[in-house]
Amino acid sequence: RPFRIAVLPGDGIGKEVMPEGLRALDAATKRFGIAIEYRHFEWASCDYYAAHGKMMPDDWKAQLQGMDALFFGAVGWPATVPDHVSLWGSLLKFRREFDQYVNLRPVRLFEGVPCPLAGRKPGDIDYFVVRENTEGEYTSLGGVMYEGTEREMVIQESVYSRVGAQRLLKFAFELAQSRPRKHVTLATKSNGIAISMPWWDRQADEVKKAYPDVALDKQHIDILSARFVLQPGRFDVVAATNLFGDILSDLGPATTGTIGLAPSGNLNPDRTFPSLFEPVHGSAPDIYGQNIANPIAMIWSGAMMLDFLGRGEGACRQAHDAILAAIEAVLRDGPRTPDLGGKASTTELGEAVARNIAS
Ligand code: NAI
Ligand code: MG
Repeated sequence: RPFRIAVLPGDGIGKEVMPEGLRALDAATKRFGIAIEYRHFEWASCDYYAAHGKMMPDDWKAQLQGMDALFFGAVGWPATVPDHVSLWGSLLKFRREFDQYVNLRPVRLFEGVPCPLAGRKPGDIDYFVVRENTEGEYTSLGGVMYEGTEREMVIQESVYSRVGAQRLLKFAFELAQSRPRKHVTLATKSNGIAISMPWWDRQADEVKKAYPDVALDKQHIDILSARFVLQPGRFDVVAATNLFGDILSDLGPATTGTIGLAPSGNLNPDRTFPSLFEPVHGSAPDIYGQNIANPIAMIWSGAMMLDFLGRGEGACRQAHDAILAAIEAVLRDGPRTPDLGGKASTTELGEAVARNIAS
């Protein structure tokens, strides 16, 4: 049967880059004979919130029943809905209720994209951030006490489970095993956060035993961040908790030129629920409405989706590779959106990628 994909453009430039993501998917699936059925949803957006007072209908889960994956634009419109409301009311619900415990974010420097790090060439930056996506520092456990008094205080707990840490690490080791360098770096902070981070180190040592051919090193998050900038060639697969991974996966793409390129997969590797594919960037209210957003992060997210659906094999793998080759060619030869130093529109870039995929 065809793959069933839920299409959720969301807010702001999510609505502008989504059509280009679909255009590239159409070109690739047509060329390689892959059948896809799309279902389009207007909710998980601040427009929906304005009309209904919530981000999604109560039966959102039922409406997504039977979907193989979610193709998601971006959510957030801070002028009308506070960001923690829009995020917790949509994206974080998907991540948690669909147990998308891996947030996979490739970081790669392409030819033709000005690198903010002096002297770096394509090939020097090519790694994955594997972020834990369902627990950790992002909890609702805590509260403010004695509010408004001199003694006002706040507590917010971090929670890591053995199952949660080990399944994340297992994914990281398996990814590393499939790559030439076979190297996992664990983002840690076991000197300062002296209970939970040494515990993470032990989880990594334990999981590593099943992967004797993969190297493991542990780096404190502070120096690790510095090395993302100073020595990016040291990294292959970087495993991190929710907060550390969130920060690293904005920093990494920033070192490769523009956040407009960075894709992500919110994966449920066990396939008990659909996974979600989205650009790393948000809804960019500052450029929305001008048709100048870079659609490549959205297009690349679509390629990751096909690869995940096809388990890295067959026609889906070929379609993924063709989309990546088209992205490389367009970044090298143009056209370019303003974030890449050009004058092209979102549509022009999307059309150029789709033409290249088809040929
Ligand atoms: P943002 O990623 O939307 O924008 C940051 C900066 O990068 C802006 O200057 C923007 O113009 C630029 N930018 C982002 N994507 C671009 C693209 N494709 N092409 C060219 N330039 C691009 O992050 P910001 O401003 O912090 O958040 C705006 C809204 O997006 C907020 O409501 C926030 O909560 C939401 N957000 C949603 C995310 C998601 O849906 N996963 C992720 C990050 C933020
Ligand atoms: Mg982030």
